[in-house]
Amino acid sequence: MIMVIKWDKKLASKYYEVELVEKKYVLGPAIKKIVKQTKGRKLVDLGCGSGYYCRIFAKVGKKVLGVDKNQEQLNIALSKEREQKLGIKYIRSNLTNLEGVKSGSYGIALLNFVIIEIPSANIVKKIFKEARRILKKNGVLIIGELHPHNINVKSRVGHFILKNNVSYFDNGAAGKSIALLTNGKKMLFDGDHHYTLEFLVNSLIGTGFDIKFIKEPEWKEKFPIDIIIVAKKG
Ligand SMILES: C[S@@+](CC[C@H](N)C(=O)[O-])C[C@H]1O[C@@H](n2cnc3c(N)ncnc32)[C@H](O)[C@@H]1O
Repeated sequence: MIMVIKWDKKLASKYYEVELVEKKYVLGPAIKKIVKQTKGRKLVDLGCGSGYYCRIFAKVGKKVLGVDKNQEQLNIALSKEREQKLGIKYIRSNLTNLEGVKSGSYGIALLNFVIIEIPSANIVKKIFKEARRILKKNGVLIIGELHPHNINVKSRVGHFILKNNVSYFDNGAAGKSIALLTNGKKMLFDGDHHYTLEFLVNSLIGTGFDIKFIKEPEWKEKFPIDIIIVAKKG
């Protein structure tokens, strides 16, 4: 039987980076390609966790700010920055109120695997609103997420299960995911949430974003695992 490890506060203070197969092979490469093709030197990583993408983009010349509410994860990011100085700044903040960040100051905002942790549709909308505020005109928000279609479907990299037998159409519905790690173990993330594609796209439009494009990175499955939504502040 494969061992399943549960992601919790204790793990959040220990692991600087969870090597998910999905992150390494499906979403990660597509996110990197899109950021590379996007103009803007200043990048804000909203919900940066332990700074995985902050370091990747600082190394290719971006001026990076990482924001997260989880101090355990930020401590790891900060210790990595002390080990190898890349000029990344980190702040602890809730994404619904980025009062420490000036309006119109970023060319790129990344929101990667954060919406899955947001418990209500209203909070998601508040986060979009704040992301738009801190972006420059024509600045771009890049959202990487589990594909909303990918519920109750087992893939080679994981399994997202909706709880309480609710349907695809229940925005904010509680779920849990079991994800495969590169070392062959599995990790359980309890406390996840699901949103429909309609909700995500229409909420971005409702917040004043223009949808630039959507990317469904292909991998070994016959269905999409992840989705990337790229939206522009008009
Ligand atoms: C699954 S992790 C993804 C981390 C990182 N974006 C990545 O892809 O490696 C989600 C992160 O979002 C943060 N987060 C969730 N809700 C947040 C909120 N309301 N404000 C700030 N950070 C939040 C969590 O603390 C966590 O570090």
